[in-house]
Amino acid sequence: MDPVVDLVLRRHGFTSLNPVQSAAAEYVLSGKNVVVSSPTASGKTVVAEMAVLRALKQGKKAVYTCPLRALASEHYAEFKRLYPEYRTALSVGDFDSADAWAKDYDVIFTTYEKLDSILRHGAPWLSDVGVVVVDEVHEIDSERGPTIEVILTRFLLRGSVQIVALSATIPNAHELAQWLRAELVVSEWRPVKLREGVLHRKTVLFSDGSVAEIKGSSDDDLVAFVEDTLERNKQLLVFTMTRKNAESVARRLRPVVSRYVRSRSALRRVSEKILRALESPTSQCRELASCVADGVAFHHAGLVSRQRELVEDAFRKGEILVVVATPTLAAGVNLPAFRVLVHSVKRYGGYGYEAIPVREYKQMAGRAGRPRYDDHGEAVILARDEGQVQELFEHYVMGEPENVYSRLGTETALRFHTLALTATAPSVSQDLLQRFFSNTFYAVQYGDVDTVLQRVEGVVAWLEENGFVKVDSKVVATDLGKRTAQLYIDPFTAKSFVDYIKKPRFGEIAFLYTLVDTVELRPYPSVSRGEEPQLWQLAEEFRDEIPVDFHSWEFDDYLFLNKWKLTLILHAWVNEVHEDDILKQYDVSPGILRAYVTNAEWLAYALGELSKLLEEKRVWRYADIMAKRIHFGVKEELLDLVQLKGVGRVRARKLYNAGVRNLHDLKGADPALLAEVVGPKVAKELLRQVGRRITGSEEERMRSAALRDQTTLDMFTE
Ligand SMILES: Nc1ncnc2c1ncn2[C@@H]1O[C@H](COP(=O)(O)OP(=O)(O)OP(=O)(O)O)[C@@H](O)[C@H]1O
Ligand SMILES: [Mg+2]
Repeated sequence: MDPVVDLVLRRHGFTSLNPVQSAAAEYVLSGKNVVVSSPTASGKTVVAEMAVLRALKQGKKAVYTCPLRALASEHYAEFKRLYPEYRTALSVGDFDSADAWAKDYDVIFTTYEKLDSILRHGAPWLSDVGVVVVDEVHEIDSERGPTIEVILTRFLLRGSVQIVALSATIPNAHELAQWLRAELVVSEWRPVKLREGVLHRKTVLFSDGSVAEIKGSSDDDLVAFVEDTLERNKQLLVFTMTRKNAESVARRLRPVVSRYVRSRSALRRVSEKILRALESPTSQCRELASCVADGVAFHHAGLVSRQRELVEDAFRKGEILVVVATPTLAAGVNLPAFRVLVHSVKRYGGYGYEAIPVREYKQMAGRAGRPRYDDHGEAVILARDEGQVQELFEHYVMGEPENVYSRLGTETALRFHTLALTATAPSVSQDLLQRFFSNTFYAVQYGDVDTVLQRVEGVVAWLEENGFVKVDSKVVATDLGKRTAQLYIDPFTAKSFVDYIKKPRFGEIAFLYTLVDTVELRPYPSVSRGEEPQLWQLAEEFRDEIPVDFHSWEFDDYLFLNKWKLTLILHAWVNEVHEDDILKQYDVSPGILRAYVTNAEWLAYALGELSKLLEEKRVWRYADIMAKRIHFGVKEELLDLVQLKGVGRVRARKLYNAGVRNLHDLKGADPALLAEVVGPKVAKELLRQVGRRITGSEEERMRSAALRDQTTLDMFTE
């Protein structure tokens, strides 16, 4: 047996490779490029592991890329646990870095975008890479697809790097294989059999033609299905298309699931941790916590990642019985259940309600059936009426997933990636552009590189006009072009930042609006009819500060309101409006607010970096302060205090109002006062951070001050 196979089996404790793995092993272990297309939970990770271990044994490095941070960190943790003899790293953060430290590691787990940015920085350690794994490569047909395509094309052109691409079941996997000059491994094999069906009137019509009665007591199909599952001592995943629906379904299921809870104390512990995930819990946190106490949770991008992890863990341990999630969960972490219920297959898109792709449905359905626990899994779609049953059955249950298509041909993608290409080479000739684009998936699928090259020509002209590249016989990136590519922002965004830097306006509104008015902060929060009047009123009030020409023929009312709303959200955030009030007033959830904040901070940083390049010191300084304010959600006066560990926007404000306005004040502060403001534990920790010793008598006073504080609080609550 090959030593790599032997190692993999031993470390996992598996008795043998499964069919997908043995089919791929031979290719992988001889260093060939491989595309694996097989169902959910068929064991593709092990295929990648074999390739990684082979490279490591040859003294090379391995890079493993995933669509989501959560997924990257799950694979990272698992690899590190299984193979502690190798140096394993997780690189998902800062886009403006070559991660030079990674040279000391053997395996690097990243997201697609992070790997792309590492390639743009031209990290020297890349030449030691022997294998690159791309997980969930079917994502090539998504908004992020062009990034995957460019990464893989770059490695393809390097030649000496083995490529292992893992895909869900797709009919045109052979095209991916053709592109990557790879061996194709296709398999329908699943470790746990899957039965798919459609549920209506407490009857499930299964794909094998059988019909099953649902035994739940309720007349409501959803509720009855939940009862039936929990009666059998099994767990259930429900998929809804929107975050709102996930929450409302979870709320609706609370009383039902609650009847089946066995260990309340375990749930209470999880529930408390969920509440403590934020410095001060929001109403969404409280809602989630109380659902969890009853054994059901919702799970979507609106939760902060710590809360998502808590929900996933508790579900894996069997404490939470039902999770109601949006489809991101299906594309993400490994969270199987005996049953999956797909609550709806319609999603609101650009053209009203649209049916989701079969591929997406199959991803969700594939979560049913836990290896080692169940001998089969069941996935059902909920039909709203009799007429839907046949339709859903034929289209989804019996349906084939769609082909995947390259999305590299769009102008946005070409602009973004063409600049990056020119920025990472000393110069780029027409030949090189031709060679690059002839090696893309796009070229394989459309067979016609000329159209793309024509579009690239247009893009290059635009880049030249706006100072990102110089063109004579070759295309050469300017310093602005190079910096833009490294900062990982769209050239359009960089152009609008350069305009701002040349004519800066130092008000918060003008600055924040400039950040918001970019592709990076999309999709914008939606604006309801009811909100419109107030948003317009505020726009009128701030009219002179908003960098928009309201009379321009290009002015778009609706888009403006979306941007304006996001500007106001960020404005409230940097002015310390209580998080829960922001969320309520603007109807956004904590996870979404976090995502906006993270991206806005990144853009503020990028704007600052471009000002540095253009030697506009004042703008640079202002952008630097704004980036920090966005990071912490505070006014400028708190920036000193929030540097302290354990001090966020809420505590910093309390300290400031109590007269402790900076680190210097903190050093000289009365410990008893501090204890009163933030509690004795935190107070002690803060004093430690500024290097202050506490005497025995001070300690005594701190304790009684905190007690005093406690009694006054108790008096209030009683
Ligand atoms: N040879 C094997 N014997 C027993 N169990 C295995 C074997 N290979 C993998 N498994 C188990 O199967 C489960 C699913 O594997 P994995 O996560 O790699 O699936 P996947 O194909 O990547 O699915 P997805 O498309 O959902 O990402 C894991 O729990 C893994 O431990
Ligand atoms: Mg996988």
